[in-house]
Amino acid sequence: MENLQTRLWGVPMTDQLPLPVRITGVTRETPAVRTFHFDREISFIPGQFVMVWVPGVDEIPMALSSASSITVQRVGEATSALFSLRDGDTLGIRGPFGNGFPPSQRVLAVAGGVGAAPLLPVVRAGGVKKMLLGARSAADLLFPAIFKESTDLAISTDDGSLGHHGFVADLLKDEDLHQFDYLFCCGPERMMAAILAFLVHSGCPEKGFFSLHRYMKCGLGVCGSCSIDPHGLRVCRDGPVFSGDILVKSEFGHYSRDACGRRRPI
Ligand SMILES: Cc1cc2nc3c(=O)[nH]c(=O)nc-3n(C[C@H](O)[C@H](O)[C@H](O)COP(=O)(O)OP(=O)(O)OC[C@H]3O[C@@H](n4cnc5c(N)ncnc54)[C@H](O)[C@@H]3O)c2cc1C
Ligand code: FES
Repeated sequence: MENLQTRLWGVPMTDQLPLPVRITGVTRETPAVRTFHFDREISFIPGQFVMVWVPGVDEIPMALSSASSITVQRVGEATSALFSLRDGDTLGIRGPFGNGFPPSQRVLAVAGGVGAAPLLPVVRAGGVKKMLLGARSAADLLFPAIFKESTDLAISTDDGSLGHHGFVADLLKDEDLHQFDYLFCCGPERMMAAILAFLVHSGCPEKGFFSLHRYMKCGLGVCGSCSIDPHGLRVCRDGPVFSGDILVKSEFGHYSRDACGRRRPI
């Protein structure tokens, strides 16, 4: 097995106190997604995340899209506040946290929307043999040029403006799963649940590794806000990447919990 150390970049960071980082550049990726580059290289495994403190607003989990960047979709208060920041502004960062994706050179990657962000470092490290990339429209596809030059890329759009007209999960039926060690997946949970259902139907749910989003407070495995039923596994500590056989009989694809712990259907 590949030595873990060879998969790490940069220097170690802190768990409990946010470390100040300065924004060195902001890239507009799509109408709703921007990449924020900062002046510090974080030692991480692809798929791990950081807790990003947006001064005066909130602290939110974000996957690392590289050792020194996060790629953010604007959805609410904290992400909107992030979008108002410019070069030279300061953020706080704790982490990296979680497990990340397992090492492999023969991965089938499936991404929907901003779910492409944690898969970018896996592609850049040469681990992805084929990538299925989906979004609402051609304009919403994330990193298509980088993926096209680095791997075999198939595209789907909900509105048919580029590639297959439909959902990215539809593309899976054309793939021979035996060609791959693993399937890595990140995107909207309904999309990931459809991918898991396909793997279950194919008799190999354990081949899939899914990066989950859940509401997080501490990021350290202490508060329990990110626990998933029925096992009580914590997405921040035991995940955010889980194999499909663990998720099959869980809340995954059915519901998640809000900041107050109330169930909200997926
Ligand atoms: C491990 C992990 C990695 C993540 N990586 C990324 C990333 O790389 N890029 C990115 O853009 N986002 C990522 N997210 C999601 C991101 O943390 C949320 O979008 C963010 O916290 C929303 O904050 P807000 O204040 O802007 O929105 P809020 O005002 O809190 O919420 C606005 C809307 O977004 C929904 N929402 C809030 N949090 C989440 C969540 N965790 N998952 C799904 N929906 C949510 C709310 O239900 C609400 O409908 C990640 C989440 C986790 C747990
Ligand atoms: S966010 Fe507190 S246990 Fe996961």
